Amino acid sequence: MMSDALLSGRASAGGSQMKSVVILISGRGSNLQALLDAKLPGRVAAVISDRAEALGLALAQARGVATAVLDHRRYASREAFDAALADEIAAHGADLVVLAGFMRILGDDFVRRFAGRLLNIHPSLLPLFPGLKPHAQALAAGVKIHGCTVHFVTPALDAGPIVIQAAVPVHGDDDENELAARVLVQEHRIYPLAVRWFLEDRLCLTPEGRVALADEGPPASPLIAPVAA
Ligand code: GAR
Repeated sequence: MMSDALLSGRASAGGSQMKSVVILISGRGSNLQALLDAKLPGRVAAVISDRAEALGLALAQARGVATAVLDHRRYASREAFDAALADEIAAHGADLVVLAGFMRILGDDFVRRFAGRLLNIHPSLLPLFPGLKPHAQALAAGVKIHGCTVHFVTPALDAGPIVIQAAVPVHGDDDENELAARVLVQEHRIYPLAVRWFLEDRLCLTPEGRVALADEGPPASPLIAPVAA
């Protein structure tokens, strides 16, 4: 079994070295699966979980991707866990670190070490509904449009520069699970896009902390919800 999963056999279009990605998970791993399925122009060097029971670990192993578990309970402090995690990521030579349902908050030192090469997906249209239970927050607020956001990670929780968002309508009779499922379909579309852009050197964070994206394409159509008959 290969220790690295080759997501594509080709180097990026510019002929530069193929980049390595380390993906951090805590659970189910459906975004991980979307990334692995996307045949991205880079390679997943490792999948790391903070929970041994994370279902995504088996998925990674089945694809021949190296896995590691770092249980925060084995570390004396948050800082010690973060340092061990950062060292494990660096040992895999990561050019990009992708948080895919990684549910531990990372400290400032960790975030600074990977500044500009640390992406997260959050299931809301940030800056609305950061933190826990974003779907419940959206339903409680009565918004008619909800969604998901890929952003560069900065020390402030869920507040980093936004790369891409997708929006879905909220239905009048939605419960949290129905809304989460509708958003998740869009997560699986936008996260591989954002990662692809980074791997193709089309996406970066500027020194001023702004998102720069080459060849952005035409603006998307508006989403209006609800649409009365
Ligand atoms: C996803 O909905 C992701 O956006 C969310 O956890 C879920 C993980 O699902 N992440 C956060 O809430 C981070 N704040 P997955 O394990 O099936 O990808």
